Amino acid sequence: MKARVPIKPRAPLAQPEPIIEVRDLVKRYGDFTVHDHLDLDVMRGEVLSIVGGSGSGKTTLLRQIVGLERPTSGSIRIFGQDPASLPAAALQALRNRWGMQFQHGALFSALSVIDNVALPMRELRALPDDLICKAALLKLEMVGLSAKDADKRPSDLSGGMIKRVGLARALSLEPELVFLDEPTAGLDPRASDDYVALIDELRAELGLTVVMVTHDLDTLIALSNRVAVLADRKVLAAAPIWELVKIDHPFIHEYFLGERGRRALLALRVPASEQES
Ligand SMILES: Nc1ncnc2c1ncn2[C@@H]1O[C@H](COP(=O)(O)OP(=O)(O)OP(=O)(O)O)[C@@H](O)[C@H]1O
Ligand SMILES: [Mg+2]
Repeated sequence: MKARVPIKPRAPLAQPEPIIEVRDLVKRYGDFTVHDHLDLDVMRGEVLSIVGGSGSGKTTLLRQIVGLERPTSGSIRIFGQDPASLPAAALQALRNRWGMQFQHGALFSALSVIDNVALPMRELRALPDDLICKAALLKLEMVGLSAKDADKRPSDLSGGMIKRVGLARALSLEPELVFLDEPTAGLDPRASDDYVALIDELRAELGLTVVMVTHDLDTLIALSNRVAVLADRKVLAAAPIWELVKIDHPFIHEYFLGERGRRALLALRVPASEQES
């Protein structure tokens, strides 16, 4: 059976430089432990995908990395800085270096598409509004939308369009790093393929580092340099897929070596010399 997306598995980067360092992270809600001494590095320029069962703490991990949730203990450094120790102005400057596309869109329903995309720029108060509008339109075009979508409300958009507006907003401040939480969930195979191609193009053009949570094996295989597996409240391993599948763990068996996984992984039988970074 033909794979949905052109698959060329990527190797890890030759000269990895960590830009996110999560160390000994513990996160508890009351008695419930989500993360228990979890470690993770993300390297500049890579696409790192995070997989794990539903409720394993993928979104919670992203939310702690971007400072929307505080860890119970442990440390997180982004671009060499600890967001928890920064004064407000420095924290805002650091935050402007990344963008996040949320799992459920998180667009403001009362704002038009263009105003949603313009919002992070308006909050910065660094540009006149006509320039902000022009820049927001460019972002919309960058993600495959157009001026005719600009005045629509989120409720008038298809699922795929909502994902694209979320991405345009994440790119609003021209970040070096983007977080994508389930970017293709709920999209039909074609919209999902288009979205994967878009992420790949933006990654190459903008030199982005991408941290992506996804359940979609085809998306994962098409885009990732490395995959981090969240299981047993930790990152079990963060490695290229062809190394992960050798690990003897029930989640890995179920996820990568079930029927869908095997089918997607068939495409990974590519000689090492043909794997591109
Ligand atoms: N604010 C909160 N208060 C209490 N429990 C929470 C809170 N946020 C998350 N949790 C719990 O933490 C666990 C991890 O949630 P999280 O949303 O990170 O999972 P996930 O891996 O992203 O799942 P999914 O694949 O379904 O999106 C879940 O059991 C969830 O109920
Ligand atoms: Mg989630």
